[in-house]
Amino acid sequence: MYLSSLYLKNFRNYNELIINFNPKLNIFIGKNAQGKTNILESIFFCSLLKSHRTNRINDLIRFGEDRFTIEIKGKKDNLKDIETNIVLNSDGKKFISFSNFKVQKISDFIGYIKVVMFSPEDLKIIKESPIIRRKFLDMSISQLDNKYLKYIISYNKILNMKNILLKNETIDDTLLDVYDHQIATFSEFIIRKRVNYIKYLNRFSCELHDKISNFNEKLKIAYKTFLNLECNDLEENIDIRNEIFDILKRNRKNDKIKRFSTIGIHRDDFGVYLNERQIFNYSSQGQQRSATISIKLAIVEMIKKFTGEYPVLLLDDILSELDKSRRNFVLNFIENIQTFITGTDITECISKDYSIFNIKNGMVL
Ligand SMILES: Nc1ncnc2c1ncn2[C@@H]1O[C@H](COP(=O)(O)OP(=O)(O)OP(=O)(O)O)[C@@H](O)[C@H]1O
Ligand SMILES: [Mg+2]
Repeated sequence: MYLSSLYLKNFRNYNELIINFNPKLNIFIGKNAQGKTNILESIFFCSLLKSHRTNRINDLIRFGEDRFTIEIKGKKDNLKDIETNIVLNSDGKKFISFSNFKVQKISDFIGYIKVVMFSPEDLKIIKESPIIRRKFLDMSISQLDNKYLKYIISYNKILNMKNILLKNETIDDTLLDVYDHQIATFSEFIIRKRVNYIKYLNRFSCELHDKISNFNEKLKIAYKTFLNLECNDLEENIDIRNEIFDILKRNRKNDKIKRFSTIGIHRDDFGVYLNERQIFNYSSQGQQRSATISIKLAIVEMIKKFTGEYPVLLLDDILSELDKSRRNFVLNFIENIQTFITGTDITECISKDYSIFNIKNGMVL
């Protein structure tokens, strides 16, 4: 797939912008704080209805305005037109349409345009707390499977109700049973999806990392959940629903003391290991960066494997951070993928077919 044009109205520092894209490589150059990342952010928003850098989406509305509009056009590999229109009002209301149909449920829209963003902040996936990895995992799986997102939303609703109940003075155990049965059902679905996703993420990123590190380092990604699973695998016919329910029930005493739900998939994580050691404890900045590249490019490959087409790739300030061999690796990798790159100079971007956009103060010169 590729994107052919973008229209922005009152998005970040853009008053109004119309750009026609190159189907291969688009390079945004300009001084700091001119609006390069803002363009990538608007494309990212059209895929996941989120910003990659803030949870406060009202920040995306141009100062002093009360709504923004983003319109993206493009083509899928099957030649179907991509046409999306998103309006976000400052009261939080969103109006979304694609192919001229109004979107009723947000989960139906997520992943219609598939995007992988790669920015220096992605090191957080390796370095920071489980919540960052869980968000990353949920977002990545949701892009491929919107049923997963629906289950996550349902799980969070029930979890919330259970936590409210656990804060009551008197706790109705039969109601807790009802909640835990529902939680077990949602958890089974989510765990199976996470197991499967991480199995492939491990396989693909390990293969890419072999190449990036010249076979000097072994990268491993392993799912961590409260169930005792055999390393990234779970047979179809094993009944985990009842096991989950039993674990929740056994843990009830603890939940009642702590007054919240202390165990469950809302605390899942995954470990990233280099040569069998936890990566954040033992590895250099460069090794962490390489591992992050392997993981991100693995996601690109997985989207291709599971949907049949490549996503678009957004590389925010990433090339300047890489040494020459890794930069070349990334540049070779993107050969057949529509890519949007930001940077303050272009000397390193060598490609046969590309367009350059000079960005200054919220305008393309
Ligand atoms: N809601 C908003 N309304 C108006 N301007 C905004 C808004 N949000 C951010 N900006 C402005 O957008 C600019 C930052 O844009 P952006 O992050 O795209 O910069 P950049 O070109 O990527 O810079 P760098 O090279 O430093 O990464 C800043 O000048 C900021 O003040
Ligand atoms: Mg930037």
